[in-house]
Amino acid sequence: MSTYNTAFTSDNIAGVSPQVLEAMARCNVGQADPYGRDDYSIKAEKMLSDVFEKDVRVFFVTTGTAANCLSLSALTPPWGAVLCHHEGHINNDECGAPEFFNSGARVLTLDGTDSKVDPEALKWGVKYRVGDMHSSQPSTVSLTQATESGTIYTLDELCVLGAITKNAGLRMHMDGARFGNALVALNCSPAEMTWKCGVDVLSFGATKNGTMSAEAIVVFDKTIAQEMSFRRKRSGHLGSKMRFMAAQMLGYLENDLWLRNARQANAMAAMLKSGLEKLPEISLIGSPEANIIFCKMPTYCIDKLLAQGFRFYHDRWEPNVVRFVTSFATTEQDIQHFLSAVNQAVGYAQAV
Ligand SMILES: Cc1ncc(COP(=O)(O)O)c(C=O)c1O
Repeated sequence: MSTYNTAFTSDNIAGVSPQVLEAMARCNVGQADPYGRDDYSIKAEKMLSDVFEKDVRVFFVTTGTAANCLSLSALTPPWGAVLCHHEGHINNDECGAPEFFNSGARVLTLDGTDSKVDPEALKWGVKYRVGDMHSSQPSTVSLTQATESGTIYTLDELCVLGAITKNAGLRMHMDGARFGNALVALNCSPAEMTWKCGVDVLSFGATKNGTMSAEAIVVFDKTIAQEMSFRRKRSGHLGSKMRFMAAQMLGYLENDLWLRNARQANAMAAMLKSGLEKLPEISLIGSPEANIIFCKMPTYCIDKLLAQGFRFYHDRWEPNVVRFVTSFATTEQDIQHFLSAVNQAVGYAQAV
């Protein structure tokens, strides 16, 4: 067991929601057909169809990277380009896997404030060297909801970007590693935040928000479902004991656990944000609304917190830029404990 103090490194440092473990234990009886032909998998697909108010096809995989890259590979030809924000996880944090899975299709990055793709940049991107035989052809747009910096596209913003994408004849993917966090913040329906804005395939993240290792590729455009089946097998993600992944998803969705977990993570981030905002030595970056906060912190403060065993990313961006991520397992006590330490680190004797 690590002996660090409260950690805000990521939401994947949390354990598994007990309800998810219970659902796995319930499914651990007798024998079941392998490779997703079991009753749990069928039920999970039905449940996701209900959640999204559409008859969807569902493909479980174990990582968000696999969900993203398989989705993009089914949407993009090898000579295609995937357009995303330059802060996109697929651009920065997947070690070239999108290109690897896509037989050479390229990621083409776009600008925009708060890690959100700017519509004007997208209008430029969808036309970039179209018809030029020497260049990768814009094929797919990938948006991250919530974004890598904890901001959230509004429904209007998604629909504007969706319309630009569709009018140009491209297809749309959503990286929903933190889909639940965005959904509860917008207080809208899963359908409104996806296919109603033009999303063809969604990486429905669950691991950061309560499951052990179950992410779902949710396919709205069923014309790519068969291709996805073969791609998943070829990538080594067709789990033989798929029922345990399906069980995780059932436990995650039942009784709205996923929404309750996401609300807890967001509330803890909001509490942390309001504590940090009171300190003139610390400046928040952007306008986070989900469970990720970026800010600038003096070096002496970062060093003191690290020396006390607190954990957070502090050396991945420009100097003094730090990131805090809360999860469903973060408690009010965790936040108070950390804010007390931050107050003391910046020189205020008074604990929070
Ligand atoms: C926005 C986003 N997308 C995708 C992923 C991929 O998740 P995994 O680490 O499971 O591959 C992450 C993980 O940090 C993420 O933050």
